Amino acid sequence: MPNVVIVGTQWGDEGKGKVVDALAPHVAAVVRFQGGNNAGHTLVVNGQKIVLHLLPSGILHPEVTSLIGHGVVIDPAVLLGEIDRLTARGHVLSADKLGISLSAHVILPYHTAVDQARERARGASKIGTTGRGIGPAYEDKVARRGVRIADLIDPARLALRLGEILPEKNHALENWHGVAPITADALLNELAPMGARLRPWARDTVAEVHAILGRGGSILFEGAQGTFLDIDHGTYPFVTSSNTVAGAACAGAGVGPTAIHEVVGIAKAYTTRVGSGAFPTEDLGAAGEALRAIGAEFGATTGRPRRCGWFDAALLRQAVRLNGVTRLALTKLDVLTGLDRIPVCVGYAGFDGTFPAALEDAVPVWEELPGWSDPISGARTLGDLPREARAYVDRLEALVGVPIELISVGPEREATIAVGGLFAG
Ligand code: IMP
Repeated sequence: MPNVVIVGTQWGDEGKGKVVDALAPHVAAVVRFQGGNNAGHTLVVNGQKIVLHLLPSGILHPEVTSLIGHGVVIDPAVLLGEIDRLTARGHVLSADKLGISLSAHVILPYHTAVDQARERARGASKIGTTGRGIGPAYEDKVARRGVRIADLIDPARLALRLGEILPEKNHALENWHGVAPITADALLNELAPMGARLRPWARDTVAEVHAILGRGGSILFEGAQGTFLDIDHGTYPFVTSSNTVAGAACAGAGVGPTAIHEVVGIAKAYTTRVGSGAFPTEDLGAAGEALRAIGAEFGATTGRPRRCGWFDAALLRQAVRLNGVTRLALTKLDVLTGLDRIPVCVGYAGFDGTFPAALEDAVPVWEELPGWSDPISGARTLGDLPREARAYVDRLEALVGVPIELISVGPEREATIAVGGLFAG
């Protein structure tokens, strides 16, 4: 198995968790490299739904090492809650199975408070963040006033660090954000026990990644969010605060580009988006509502209804360029069952070979493909699909120019068609 990066090619929620879970048994380790608990990766195993926000989606495979790289921002309370929930379900998260980078930054209570206070202040022009403190935590990292896991697990270092950071932080909290200031003692009392609990898993994950590679083991780098939420390439300012493209796996996990062999792009058979910002193929009518209802398009993290629309091949072609996508997995094809005709955006008027800097300017050029009515969730081979469903997949593949090697036809692990390539066998 090569070293693979998995990325979302749209606005997140493409079903990356399920694809990571499918590939995990073939690798030595799964590494998260960016984002935080704004992500929500839903897995359905033996009829049970498991939502992961911080733990890598390989965590359910006991033989696979799960690493949280230093590009991730970690809310310790959320991570511990997730560890406790999985442990209660009988999963053993021993220190050799789960590793947390000492250099990952910590989301502190004031990050969450600031995220939510800012959104309230923005009113109608809000970004629609998940309110989990992701942006403020990354801001502090870049401003060099962050707290890292190495500080969190060492009370003396944590006290020192908070002493440096809190005077300025409290000034801003009180005088600008209208949020109550926080004392170093209160924060220490809250954080130190969490640091102590996380200590067994905290280590040099870069060394571990390279040890695995040195032994000839392969690694799956698990992206969160999607390409068009990327801080550089997304629909700025309606984006998240990290780089979500495949290149971020290098910086966020600690490998060079030469360590990565394949990039698997995950695309939903239609498109969704949570939060504000441009969405050229959005369907604000009854068809969009039907996609939301049938596809259960409600945020795994916040429960918010997702905005729904049609497959956008122009968006996908751009995602292929930005990530170097070599193979595609197409998810939720079953949700389109029962539609008479399925609109697909094949390009944007006036943009040929270029991509609009402001996606609000994109006017989709539409094509309509015939739908199918027979249920497809039981399909396990391409031959099991109705002719129109196969034609739909073939047309998307031709429009995007990358082979579709996996098709997901339902939420369960088994509801998958492995077309070939990486997913064969
Ligand atoms: P933040 O990442 O919480 O700052 O939110 C910024 C934008 O990214 C908002 O539009 C969120 O809805 C969106 N977002 C963040 N994480 C995810 C995700 O995992 N899936 C889908 N949208 C996300």
